[in-house]
Amino acid sequence: MNHDDDLIWLNGEIVPMSQAAISPEDRGFQFADGVYEVIRLYAGRPFTLDQHLARLERSAAEIKLALPIPTAKLKAEMLRLVAQAAAGEGMIYAQLTRGHAPRNHLFPEEQRHTLLFYIRPLDPLPGVDQTPHVKLLTATDDRWQRCFIKSIALLPNVLAKNTAVAAGADEAVFVDHGHVTECSASNVFAVINGILTTCPVGPKVLPGITRAVLLECAKELNIPVAERPIPENEARAADELFITSTTREISPVSHWDDKPVGRTTTITKRLHHALKQRVAAAIR
Ligand code: PDD
Repeated sequence: MNHDDDLIWLNGEIVPMSQAAISPEDRGFQFADGVYEVIRLYAGRPFTLDQHLARLERSAAEIKLALPIPTAKLKAEMLRLVAQAAAGEGMIYAQLTRGHAPRNHLFPEEQRHTLLFYIRPLDPLPGVDQTPHVKLLTATDDRWQRCFIKSIALLPNVLAKNTAVAAGADEAVFVDHGHVTECSASNVFAVINGILTTCPVGPKVLPGITRAVLLECAKELNIPVAERPIPENEARAADELFITSTTREISPVSHWDDKPVGRTTTITKRLHHALKQRVAAAIR
C-alpha cells in the first residue's frame, strides 16, 4: 500500500508523508538516539493516550531528553491529526529523537528535537473467542539492561522476531538466564496455580500499557497477581500463557518451540473481556 499521501505531524506541521523531510544526520537515524510510542485507535479514538504520553515523557527523561511541548499540547495535536486524517481503526506511531546535528557521539550543546507522529490503519481486532492463538520461539535475551525505556534501538527485537517468523512462529520470547522476560514486541503472562504471573518491569521488561491495564483488571476481578521472574520451565508448564500489546490486546499462546503449551484460556478470556469492556467504555 502506498502511504505517500498519509498525513504526518512533523515538528508542529501537518504535511503529506512524501513532503516530510528529516536530515540524514538526525540522531535517531545515526545513533538510534530516540524513543517512541504506539497508541491504538479504536473507531478513531486513542485508547489510554494519557498513559502512553506519560511513558513517552519518562522514556525521554531516561535518555536525558525533554519533550519539546507539554504532553497536554502533544495530546491536542495528536487529536488534531486524528480528526484531520479522519482516522478509524488503527494506531498512532510517535517518535522523538535528539534531532539533527553534525555526527558526534556527544549530545549537541543546545537541545534539539525531531518529534513526529502519524497514523497507520489496522484491521479491527477480533472478538475474544475469535482471537488467534500464537506460537513462540525462544530467543536469548541479548538486549541491553534498560528495556524499561521505549527506545527506538530495536535491532535485537527485530532480529529475534524475524528469526521466529522464519521458523514458522509468530513471536520471539526472550529468555534471560533461564527466566522469561518479555517478547520482541509484547509482554508475557502465565497463569500458574490460579495466579496471574508476570515478570516485573525493569531492566528486561517494558512497562507495557496493556500489561498495566490488565493488572488493574485482575485486581477488579479478584484474580491473584504475582510480579516475579518466571523460570522458563514454570512458564512452559503454566495452565495459561498469553502475550499482550497495544496492537494485539491479548493473544493466547498455543505453542512454544513447536511444543503445545497452555492447557486452558479461562482466566485469559476473563481478562480479555474486561479489557474489551474498558475499550468500549473509552470510545463510548
Ligand atoms: N510494542 N514489550 C516490548 C518490547 C514492546 O515493544 C511492546 C509494544 C510491549 C507491549 O507494550 P504496550 O502494551 O504498551 O503496547 C512490550 C509496540 C506495540 C511496537 O513496538 O509496535
